[in-house]
Amino acid sequence: MKRRMYLATFGCQMNEYDSERMVRLMAEQDYTQTTDLEQADFILLNTCSIREKAELKVYSYLGRLRKLKEKRPDLIIGLSGCVAQQEGENLLKNVPHLDLVVGTHGVHRLPRLVEEVRRNGKQVCHIEFDYHLPTAPKIASAAGPVKAFITIMQGCDNFCAYCVVPYLRGREASRPPADILAEAEGLLAQDVREITLLGQNVNSYGHGLNPSTNFTELIERISNLEGLYRLRFTTSHPKDLSPELIRALAETKTLCEHIHLPAQSGSTRTLKSMGRKYTRENYLDRVDALRDACPEVAISTDIIVGFPGETDTDFDQTMDLLERVRFDGIYSFKYSDRPMTKASRSEDKIPDEIKSARLSTLQALQKEIILAKNKALVGTHAEVLVEGPSKRQTGQMTGRTRTNRIVNFSGTEELTGRLEQVVVLEAYANSLRGELYRPGNSPDIT
Ligand code: 5AD
Ligand code: SF4
Repeated sequence: MKRRMYLATFGCQMNEYDSERMVRLMAEQDYTQTTDLEQADFILLNTCSIREKAELKVYSYLGRLRKLKEKRPDLIIGLSGCVAQQEGENLLKNVPHLDLVVGTHGVHRLPRLVEEVRRNGKQVCHIEFDYHLPTAPKIASAAGPVKAFITIMQGCDNFCAYCVVPYLRGREASRPPADILAEAEGLLAQDVREITLLGQNVNSYGHGLNPSTNFTELIERISNLEGLYRLRFTTSHPKDLSPELIRALAETKTLCEHIHLPAQSGSTRTLKSMGRKYTRENYLDRVDALRDACPEVAISTDIIVGFPGETDTDFDQTMDLLERVRFDGIYSFKYSDRPMTKASRSEDKIPDEIKSARLSTLQALQKEIILAKNKALVGTHAEVLVEGPSKRQTGQMTGRTRTNRIVNFSGTEELTGRLEQVVVLEAYANSLRGELYRPGNSPDIT
């Protein structure tokens, strides 16, 4: 009998990837996906706990499902991902309308666990770590989206002082290259044209594999696959950014000129308390090396403001880092305590008003920088991989440049999945507006 599954994904790209896997696994058990909560036989929240705000969002969503369960007691409600891993049995005790808790290593067990709940009608919790890395999935033949992710490794061994990930995702473990290649080939056969390789720290990919390999070797093997237009990766830890990877960024045709390189702070003192293992100067040297090898490279970053003990001088150093590097994108966050982390036990927490003020100051500067950088692109042309119709404006298509900038332009749906030249007409803080470049029919371009 066909059953319906409703899936809400919170948080990062890793979770999106895990969500796709869970949908595929449940499809093998005859569960189709629905976007209507009321129609669902099984509701799964795939959750994130990286910052306090992300975790609170999950609880409020979960609270809203209570009424639905009261109305339909045979509905199964499950919670997976980092909040599940973090809270385990406690969640089942505190939330009686929850049936299933499945941790970060339990993705492949989901169908069996749901079946167990259905059979026994009792709450089930599975949060053991068992390092079951995804094997290449069976790929359906239907045409898929233009872009896809592949997780190449899970976990993290870095234990940055603020970060809960190593506790919730476990130790670093890499998937064998043959599995990753098989998954990439399957995606390309479905008309996927851009692949993003995912890991908490992709630069340390390959540790512990036999035969040994590394991230640059993996990139070389994937980058030449037939049908691949673009390859990306995320996230890179600055301390492990190798000269080989910098060379690959400059020389590998399909590898896009964009790197996400989380700085977290511009103050060497704060970086030391964060346990990041590089200084402000090391970071700036890596930015120089990247730009020397590949002048057009776009660099984005993550910044935390208000880390315990951060002084005005430390924060000024972060502002100065922004001015010097002129990032192409920033994800910025107020520090929040996370369970088990070293920073959460620190005594010199920063008051919320100061964190908020620092965040606004930082975001205002970044907005100026990115607007200026985007405006400098007006009149130039760029290669855009067309992703599909814009969700905001009818008649508009949307895509990205190799440097990961969003470009909207007038066009028709059959352009989806194609590489097109676009002339940039207007610049905003988060996107560009352009028009298709057609020789003889477009303004002169620079
Ligand atoms: N508080 C605020 N931001 C955090 N991040 C990770 N942990 C915390 C925390 N406790 C941010 C970092 C990381 C991004 C994914 O989330 O900037 O790079
Ligand atoms: Fe968290 Fe640091 Fe690992 Fe990134 S490198 S996941 S910030 S511990």
